[in-house]
Amino acid sequence: VPTQEREDRSELVKSRLALIGKKIVVMSGKGGVGKSTVAVNLAAALAEEGFQVGLLDIDIHGPSIPKMLGLEGRPISSVDGIVPAEVFPGLKAMSLGLFLDGDDSAVIWRGPMKYGAIEQLIADVDWGTLDFLLVDSPPGTGDEPLSVIQLMGKVDGAVIVTTPQDLALIDVARSIRFCEQLKVPVLGVVENMSGLVCPHCGERVDVFGSGGGQRLAQKYHVPFLGAVPLDQAVMEAGENGEPLVGPGHQGEAASVFARAAQIISGEE
Ligand SMILES: Nc1ncnc2c1ncn2[C@@H]1O[C@H](COP(=O)(O)OP(=O)(O)OP(=O)(O)O)[C@@H](O)[C@H]1O
Ligand SMILES: [Mg+2]
Ligand SMILES: [Zn+2]
Repeated sequence: VPTQEREDRSELVKSRLALIGKKIVVMSGKGGVGKSTVAVNLAAALAEEGFQVGLLDIDIHGPSIPKMLGLEGRPISSVDGIVPAEVFPGLKAMSLGLFLDGDDSAVIWRGPMKYGAIEQLIADVDWGTLDFLLVDSPPGTGDEPLSVIQLMGKVDGAVIVTTPQDLALIDVARSIRFCEQLKVPVLGVVENMSGLVCPHCGERVDVFGSGGGQRLAQKYHVPFLGAVPLDQAVMEAGENGEPLVGPGHQGEAASVFARAAQIISGEE
């Protein structure tokens, strides 16, 4: 890329980011722990509180946000840039996955290509003014979260998602250390798939015991944002392309997300 073009792009990134209040990266040490689910529902819960929220999915390998939010087709552009999808008033979303052709060519992308793609995405998406931008990244401490943190200059915080089985694992510690090294404050840990909501009576059963997430947070001196139970409604909402949190939704998982959003926004 010629130097001039590169400079123009980084100016564009700066001007986009200037309109965005808090930038938050959602991370996990391991795959499949519910990072995207947490990102979608925290974003929805913040929007429910009345904030203007954007959700940016930078997972090239397995983008799940399009499915979870029912985003389809190639993104449309206006003179001001790519128009993010409006999920409901106050919540917009965009996924890098929508720009890929559905094949697996992205799997062989190297770090600099990912960096370039993420930079382009940040430069081009016209979020307008946002209170919060949540970034859903692939598992681990790889190129994607690193690129986003470098590109954004200042990230306001990270939310780390884990499951009760992984609490003791080294992955969480690694995510926390990664944040420390990059000077990104850890906003807190979400323990997902923590216990089970009985589909019959709605009661919560703590299959793996309880309190692990809280103990972990204490150990690393980071806030605990809540324990989200395994709940069929959470999974079904994802399958149906809508957040669990949102107009007309209730239940234990939705209220845990709402509380976590309040902690993050400083309303609690
Ligand atoms: N609390 C929950 N209750 C029920 N199902 C859940 C819950 N959290 C996540 N799931 C389901 O588990 C699966 C994995 O969740 P999700 O895609 O959010 O994980 P992820 O960490 O983003 O995965 P990846 O590492 O592939 O990005 C999805 O089918 C999702 O609907
Ligand atoms: Mg995911
Ligand atoms: Zn029951």
